[in-house]
Amino acid sequence: MASDAARAVGVDIGGTGIKAGIVDLDKGELVSDRVKVATPAGAHPPDVLAAVREVLSTLGVADDQSVPLGVAFPAIVKNGRTLSAANVSDEWIDFAAEKFFEDGLGRDIHFANDADVAGVAEVRYGAAKDRPGLTILTTLGTGIGSALLYNGVLVPNSELGHVQRARHGKDAEAYAAYSAMERHNLSWEQWAKRLQWYYSHIEFLFSPDLFVVGGGVSKHADHFLPLLDIKTPIVPAVHRNNAGIIGAAALARG
Ligand code: BGC
Repeated sequence: MASDAARAVGVDIGGTGIKAGIVDLDKGELVSDRVKVATPAGAHPPDVLAAVREVLSTLGVADDQSVPLGVAFPAIVKNGRTLSAANVSDEWIDFAAEKFFEDGLGRDIHFANDADVAGVAEVRYGAAKDRPGLTILTTLGTGIGSALLYNGVLVPNSELGHVQRARHGKDAEAYAAYSAMERHNLSWEQWAKRLQWYYSHIEFLFSPDLFVVGGGVSKHADHFLPLLDIKTPIVPAVHRNNAGIIGAAALARG
């Protein structure tokens, strides 16, 4: 049925929450409630699988194989394997995650990095649509995720949350992710100073044409984006924190 083909389910697994929704792929919009559960403590594979089952059954699609399913995960994803684990259990390192979810859910899925799918959503339906040159989408959440999009084409698995701070020897995300703001009770101004370092550094490394900022905090973009002084235009993701759900679903159609 045409209406089925134009819909897919997206699940966005993050370090803090697991979000899901049914997406109209023509419009790039949620056509269901946005369902969310907390990421289980430790984010061990069986617990994450159970949480994904739970959001799918809340959406009423747990047993519906007719709707394509895309799952996004906060790690490097290559050939269905997760190769890193920054904010989830180390058990995900070099783990056949796509097969694990497919076996556990009893159905096919499409599986990719969370920031990459958010980038796909913003290219197809949002802030990066029809933007020539290099767009860098960053998600500011538990970690910092990144998607590199050149003339609309995704270069997968960039990990720009893990650039190092010279002299400090720490990942950028430990210093500048939204979780760092929460952990250290930073004001918007204090956090923006950290973001200033981060975006200037990424700007220097890549000379992008556009930055798109996603993650839950992007709904408060007015509080921090105007405080940044960089040459590159920087805008919030049109789909805010739903970009991961929408992009995972978009990927499921191919
Ligand atoms: C991970 C990335 C992920 C990002 C956002 C980082 O810690 O290494 O793969 O995209 O967090 O979830």
